[in-house]
Amino acid sequence: MNVFPIFSFNKECFLRIAERSIVISNPRLRLHVEVDAKTASMLALHLRGLGQLEWEMQLDGCSGIDRSQRFVGMRGLVTDHSGFQADVDNESARAVGDKLFKLLRDRLILIEKSAESQSRVAPMDNLLDQEHLGSFHQRVGQYVLLGLREREPWRAWQNQKFSEDGLKLIGENYRQIQEPFFDRRFTHKDLSGLWVLDFGCGNGYFSAKFADAGASVIALDSSEELMSLARKNYGFRSELDFILAKTMQDSIQYLNNLSAESINLIYLQDTLLLLLNPEGGVPSDILSELFQAFRRVLTPDGELFAMEPNAIFWLAGRYGNPEAPYAIVTEYRNHVFNVVPNLGEILAPLADAGFGLVEYCHPEPTDPSHADYTYAKEFPIWDFFKFKAIN
Ligand SMILES: C[S@@+](CC[C@H](N)C(=O)[O-])C[C@H]1O[C@@H](n2cnc3c(N)ncnc32)[C@H](O)[C@@H]1O
Repeated sequence: MNVFPIFSFNKECFLRIAERSIVISNPRLRLHVEVDAKTASMLALHLRGLGQLEWEMQLDGCSGIDRSQRFVGMRGLVTDHSGFQADVDNESARAVGDKLFKLLRDRLILIEKSAESQSRVAPMDNLLDQEHLGSFHQRVGQYVLLGLREREPWRAWQNQKFSEDGLKLIGENYRQIQEPFFDRRFTHKDLSGLWVLDFGCGNGYFSAKFADAGASVIALDSSEELMSLARKNYGFRSELDFILAKTMQDSIQYLNNLSAESINLIYLQDTLLLLLNPEGGVPSDILSELFQAFRRVLTPDGELFAMEPNAIFWLAGRYGNPEAPYAIVTEYRNHVFNVVPNLGEILAPLADAGFGLVEYCHPEPTDPSHADYTYAKEFPIWDFFKFKAIN
């Protein structure tokens, strides 16, 4: 009896010549390994399978490189759903000899038992499941949810929170936590005579609330689409000035043209995370220029507020089922899904620009009839920060 495992070239895979390289793909499992010509011919020759040691010997002098993304949601909000990573150009990722054997085995191109590859097509446990491909419907759902973010990030954002015309909040947690907290802190006060800068104002829904409380508001955003919605809904109000600043340099230039110490209140809501996101975010020197510009325009007794998703917000029971939170504990420090900056990443650049944290809290849910109430009672959904100039 043969006690050694026999590895076979997986018959689900096909080999193709892609531009200048040879790629072996398992389309069902979304796995792809680019190989050299020698490896390709080895695999073709040994369809009937060899033991591990024999494969390692045969693959001596061969090389290959993994072209599969670790899983379809790897880059969080924007990702390639084929799982094929064509733009990797990292020679150190190239595997040779026994490492190549391991790569081909891990990527299920060489398989010991077909059950190994079958288990990969089981249903996903959640939207961010790394191990399973999921059912057709799960994949369609994932494509719709994540794909929209890639195609039209502004619309994905708008649909998640607002009615199509932008005039009503629809997201449960926005209605039961963010808006009542915002209203208590700002709208229910008399802000007459104050100048507010709403940075990353989106469709202007919250900017208009500042104006309702009597403030003069500069509402600035980089999205043309959201800015035109804001102008359509509130452009007739003279207390609101909507500024389109497509790049961070445009924003900095705009702020630097304002008089020093002319703004009493700077507000950022669900916006710092986009500025601080280490992948798509703004380079740190430009970000510090922006924070310095904030510091310059703020009056000496002025305040800078930020309401930002707590680090577990995205990973929590976000899609309506508080019984099944998608908590991923590696996210806080490692940014695997790259969605929310942690506390240190928020505080440090603001401190560098001369802002000290004077208040920090987690806005509470207010309405037990909301579906996410129980969950939100237990776990913070947003962090609320108040900063003041410290020198
Ligand atoms: C998640 S939305 C929040 C919008 C709004 N504050 C609200 O709470 O409804 C983030 C906003 O930041 C804007 N944004 C992203 N990067 C920006 C930048 N560099 N300058 C100005 N706005 C930016 C986006 O266009 C988007 O409207």
